[in-house]
Amino acid sequence: MARGRFILLEGCDRAGKSTQCTMLVDALKAKDLSVELYKFPDRTTTIGQMIHAYLTNSKELDDRAIHLLFSANRWEAMQEMKRKLSAGIHLVVDRYAYSGVAFSTAKGLDLTWCKNPDRGLIRPDITFFLDLPTSEAERRGGFGDERYEKRELQENVREVFLKLKDKEWTVIDAKKSILAMHFEILRETELKIRDGEKDGRFAEED
Ligand code: TMP
Ligand code: MG
Repeated sequence: MARGRFILLEGCDRAGKSTQCTMLVDALKAKDLSVELYKFPDRTTTIGQMIHAYLTNSKELDDRAIHLLFSANRWEAMQEMKRKLSAGIHLVVDRYAYSGVAFSTAKGLDLTWCKNPDRGLIRPDITFFLDLPTSEAERRGGFGDERYEKRELQENVREVFLKLKDKEWTVIDAKKSILAMHFEILRETELKIRDGEKDGRFAEED
């Protein structure tokens, strides 16, 4: 059996990642594929609850401490994600290590220091970056509720994301309509899934 594909959606707050993740999962299910949604931070775990308290401003934490908690929140999901991929289940993932690095670096931490705790996490097979200018994000509902939803920080985050971007990323213009974005993401994902049927490889970072 071919291993499942790890499909990642990244981007700044309010770019539409969660909407697109749900639509992608539903579309793949409608094609009779096994697929599950993961979201980071996963606020349901003990570590996730600490992250949630920080993001909603009910707890203060050192910048490095919160960075490590975000990373630990990914590590605690790794064995389960690996098992699912091995069982042929595709995973659609809403944010991952790129968000970890982008947000903490934007706050002023060193880039290499930020990357280190995530080394060895399962690597995504396809990364979509939903790109939206900050001024546009600000106009969308809810911007400003959580700790990082501030214009200046979001601008820095976008810059770091664009620096992290490599040729394997697929950039999606998040100013486009929800449906136009969906069809673009679905098409690329289906191509990747078809590729994956040819090779059962487990892409892992060193
Ligand atoms: P969410 O809005 O997708 O639930 O994410 C909550 C916030 O956490 C968002 O502003 C991005 C930020 N974040 C990090 O700072 N580091 C991380 O590793 C992740 C996954 C998210
Ligand atoms: Mg948010």
